[in-house]
Amino acid sequence: MSIIFDEQSKVFHLQTSKTSYIIHLWRGKYLVHVYWGKKIKTPDISNAVVNRVGGFTPNTDNEDYSLDYMNQEYPTGLGTDYRVPAISVVYADGSRNAKLLYDGYKIMSGKPKLQGLPATYVESDEEADTLYITLSDKLKGLKVILMYTAFHNLDAITRTVKVINESNDNILLEKVLSASVDFETYDYDFIDFHGAWGKERFMERTPLRHGIQVIDSKRGSSSHQLNPFFIMASKDANEEYGEAYGFNLVYSGNFTGGIEVDCADKPRVWMGINEYDFSWKLEPGQEFQAPEVVMVYSGKGFGPMSRTYHKLYRTRLVRGKYRDEPRPILINNWEATYFDFDEDKIIGLAKAAKELGIELFVLDDGWFGKRNGDDCSLGDWYVNKEKLPNGITGLAKKINEIGLKFGLWIEPEMVSVDSDLYRTHPDWCIHVPDRVRTEARNQLILDLSRKEVCDYIVDTIGGILQESDISYIKWDMNRNMSEFGSAGLPADRQKEMPHRYMLGLYDVMERITSAYPDVLFEGCSGGGGRFDPGILYYMPQIWTSDDTDAMERLRIQYGTSMCYPVSAMGAHVSAIPNHQTGRVTSLKTRGDVAMSGNFGYELDLMKLTDEEKEEIKAQVKQYKELRTFVQAGDMYRLKSPFITTNNDGNDTAWMVISEDGTDIFAAYFRKSCIVNGGIYRMKFTALEPDSTYEIVGENMKYSGDELMEIGLIVDMWGDYTSRVWRLKKI
Ligand code: GLA
Repeated sequence: MSIIFDEQSKVFHLQTSKTSYIIHLWRGKYLVHVYWGKKIKTPDISNAVVNRVGGFTPNTDNEDYSLDYMNQEYPTGLGTDYRVPAISVVYADGSRNAKLLYDGYKIMSGKPKLQGLPATYVESDEEADTLYITLSDKLKGLKVILMYTAFHNLDAITRTVKVINESNDNILLEKVLSASVDFETYDYDFIDFHGAWGKERFMERTPLRHGIQVIDSKRGSSSHQLNPFFIMASKDANEEYGEAYGFNLVYSGNFTGGIEVDCADKPRVWMGINEYDFSWKLEPGQEFQAPEVVMVYSGKGFGPMSRTYHKLYRTRLVRGKYRDEPRPILINNWEATYFDFDEDKIIGLAKAAKELGIELFVLDDGWFGKRNGDDCSLGDWYVNKEKLPNGITGLAKKINEIGLKFGLWIEPEMVSVDSDLYRTHPDWCIHVPDRVRTEARNQLILDLSRKEVCDYIVDTIGGILQESDISYIKWDMNRNMSEFGSAGLPADRQKEMPHRYMLGLYDVMERITSAYPDVLFEGCSGGGGRFDPGILYYMPQIWTSDDTDAMERLRIQYGTSMCYPVSAMGAHVSAIPNHQTGRVTSLKTRGDVAMSGNFGYELDLMKLTDEEKEEIKAQVKQYKELRTFVQAGDMYRLKSPFITTNNDGNDTAWMVISEDGTDIFAAYFRKSCIVNGGIYRMKFTALEPDSTYEIVGENMKYSGDELMEIGLIVDMWGDYTSRVWRLKKI
C-alpha cells in the first residue's frame, strides 16, 4: 500500500516512489496538512504540528488553537481561518458557515473514474492507491469527500473533491476547489505560463509576496492567456536543482490557481474551478464532482517534474490506439490555401505530399456550407459541392488512392449567424435574452450545457465520420465566451452554464472519440487556446500555436514542455516569410524546431524548388526514424529561450532520450549570431558516462562522460540557425 493510516498517531501518509504527503487528524476533528516533499520513510509527526493563537484571530471552538495558524487540507471560510477558503456554500436558511469536521476514511487500491470528467487513470489496481477522507457538516447535512491518489512508480499525487447534499433542502455551492495545500515558508517563486493568441505558455517567474497571486481564466476555456498550470519553486530551482511543486488542473474551462502568503509568512496554494460566474444548486441527495488536480513534486528541479507529467500524461491520461502508436506525419492545407481551394488544388497538394513521404493529408477550414471566409456556415456541416464536387467521401477516396490517409478540420462547438443552423435554432447559442450577442470571428458558441445541442453535434459529426474514410480530425474552437447565459436553464441555475458547458463538451467528445477509436483526434483552439489535460484525455495531440514561426516556436514549445509531453505538441514547418511574423528562417531551422514536437507541414508544396523538395524528403525520412523515441522518450531542456538569471535567451537547446537510453535526439538553436561571442558547446545530459555513443551520420564516437562534461562544439554562423544530432549508444 502506498497510503497508510496510523491509528495511534492519527497520520495519513501517502507515498509515491520518491515523495511523501502527510496529513494529521487534529484532535479527531480537523485535517491538518503536515508535509509534502521528499520521501520520509517513517514519519513521527509529534514534533510537526504547531498549535498557536495570535492577536485578532479568534481561538477555534474556543480551544487553545486557531485554524488561522494551522496548515489545513480543505479550509472553509467564515470561521477562524481568514485565508482563501476551498469551499463556499449557502444553506437554505441563508447561513454560510460550512463547518467541515472529520467523519471517516477509506483506502482502496487503484483509482476510480471521475463521473463525467476527464482524469488520469490506472490500468491495474497495483499502479496506485486512493484515499477517501470524508468531512461532514452534520448540522446541515453537507458531506465533502476528499480524494487522493498516489501513483506507485510516478511521483504524482492527484486530488479531487466530491460534495454531497444529505439534507432535505437545497444547498447552493458558490465555490468548490479541487485542492488546497498549505506550506510553511514563502521562500519560493511563482511560475506561470501566460500568453495570448500566437504566443502561448511563456514562462514567467516572480517571487512570492504577501497577499494573493492568482492565475485564472474567465473565458469559458482554459485559454491562451494563462494555462491551468503553475509551479511553486524554491528560489534556487532550475532544470536539475531545487524544489518544484507543479499544479495542473484536468479541466478545459474557467479555472483558478493561486497562492496566498499570510501574516505568518505561510503560503496557501490552491487550484480548481473558478468561482467567478459559478454556482451550483445541489438538491437533496445530489452530488457535485470537482475536476482533478495533478500535483507533482520534484526535489531535483523542473526536469524531473516535467518528465513525471510527460510520462503520466503519455501513458495514463491519453487513451486509445494512438497512445502507443507513432503519430503520422501530416500536411495541412491551411497556410497553403486558406479558404481558396478546390478538389484539383487539394489533389495536387496531396500528390506532392506523397512524393515527399508525408503520410496524412488534412483538409482544414472552408470545405462546408458556403464558407469562403470566416463569416458564415459554422454549424452547416454539409460539403460545399462547388469546391468539392465529389464530396468528402469522394475526396477522401482519391486521397487514399494516392496513398495518404485523409483528415478533416471541424469546429463543432460553434455557429455562424449566417448559417442554416442558426436560422433554425437561434436560441441554441450561449446568450442573454435582450442583450447583444457579441460575435467573435463572426461566430457564436453553441450552448453545450443543453442536451439537445450536444446530441445534434454527436449526430452530425458522427454522420461525417460514418460516411467517409476519415483517419484524423482537427477539432477547433475559435473564440471565448461572452454573455454567459443559457436558454435551457432556469434563472437560479444560470451560473451553472460555464461548468455544464464543459460537462456537455466532455460528453460529446467521449461519445465521438469512443465511437471512432481508430481516428486520430487533434485538439485546437486558435492554436493552443485549450492546451490542457482535459482535452488530452480525449485527443492525444493538440495544435500548439497558430504561430508557426520557428523562433517564436522555441519559446512556445519550451514553455509548453514544462508540463505537456512532446507527443502532445503539434509542430509544423510553414512557409517563409512566416505568415505570423514575416520572419525568414531556413528550411533546416524550421524542420529542426518542428521535429522537436509532433511533426508536420503546413505550406504550399507546389511552390517548392527541387532543392527544397529534396530537403523535405530528407526531413520526413529523418523524423520517421526519430519519432518512435522522440514521441515517447524523456525530454531534457538544456538551454532556455527565456531570459533567466544565467541566460540571455539567445540560445535554446533540448534533447530527448529513449526510455532505454539507447537513442538520443538533441537540438541547439541560436537566434542571433554574435561575433566573438565565445565558444558554445552542446553539453548532453542523462547519458551513461562509461558508454560510447555514435553520432549517427557523422561516423564519430564519444564517451558519455565526454559528451556530458566537455560537450560538442556548436559552430553556427548566421541568425536563426540550428544544429541537431542523432546519437546511438553502442
Ligand atoms: C484556427 C486554427 C487554424 C486554422 C483556422 C481555420 O485559427 O488554429 O489552424 O484551422 O482556425 O479557420
